[in-house]
Amino acid sequence: MSARSRELPRRSCLSVPGSSDRFISKAVSIPADMTFLDLEDSVASAEKAAARARVARAVRELPWDDRVLCVRVNAWDSQLTLRDLIEVVTEAGPRLDEVMLPKVQHPHEVAALDLVLSHLEAEVGLPPGHLGIEAQIETATGLINVEAIATASPRLEALVFGPADFAASMQMPVLTGGVALPEYPGDHFHYVFAKILMAARAAGLQVIDGPYLKVHDLDGLREYAMRSALLGYDGKWAIHPDQVPVLNDVYRPSQELFDRALALLEAYEQATQADRRGAVMFGDEMIDEASRKMAERFAARGRRAGMQPQR
Ligand code: GLV
Ligand code: MG
Repeated sequence: MSARSRELPRRSCLSVPGSSDRFISKAVSIPADMTFLDLEDSVASAEKAAARARVARAVRELPWDDRVLCVRVNAWDSQLTLRDLIEVVTEAGPRLDEVMLPKVQHPHEVAALDLVLSHLEAEVGLPPGHLGIEAQIETATGLINVEAIATASPRLEALVFGPADFAASMQMPVLTGGVALPEYPGDHFHYVFAKILMAARAAGLQVIDGPYLKVHDLDGLREYAMRSALLGYDGKWAIHPDQVPVLNDVYRPSQELFDRALALLEAYEQATQADRRGAVMFGDEMIDEASRKMAERFAARGRRAGMQPQR
């Protein structure tokens, strides 16, 4: 389903610890655009082995509607990755859209994941290329190599910023990653946001902001999320169900942009299909195929959010 999930909205990406049956069952009813069952940092070492089968069964058996469904495996330096992949992909079935790889530092880590997925797909009879990849950029080395990472596999669907691990990797003097630092004059992550965004967009990928760790501060979340939303990020992680509605709202288009996108699509369809022209005036603007792609993304985000045209 990577072809399916590649273009689906990811306004809210809910992280669910793979060690908890309770959280996993609850996640089904949380209206996140994307849900990932975690085998990495939200799972205690002693629970990691047991979590694999639980996560695979949950993917296979629970009613996940049409959201993007993903499993985060452990990073390649953990000695757990291969076993995570074998157990999850072999048992999860076709509903699994993607695998998320954390702490990606070099493009060959993504290439290696791609190769393993190809073998596993063949073994279990999934169509080649069925599984997509999300790569987390959350170390200094990963950020330096982000452009090469973004083009390391045709399976890649999204790059994801990991502010907590990134703050640790950079040795920032903070104990909470992914929140504003009022003492800092500006946004201490602006360069990071922009660099990941550019690399992702240049490679045609979605780009996702990471967790906001103060889970009960929903106003703070909304304000902080606006930074990456205004830069053009597709969405942000939720690490608590209460964060999901806030993110679904922040990362959806305004009504004005949604209406304009629909009108543009209509005008472009008329121009290309009926009038056989590749570029056409739309108000005071010349639109073409590139405009259609931008508008499609807006329209898809808006529809998924349940928006109706108001014009
Ligand atoms: C997420 O994985 C983070 O490290 O922020
Ligand atoms: Mg992390």
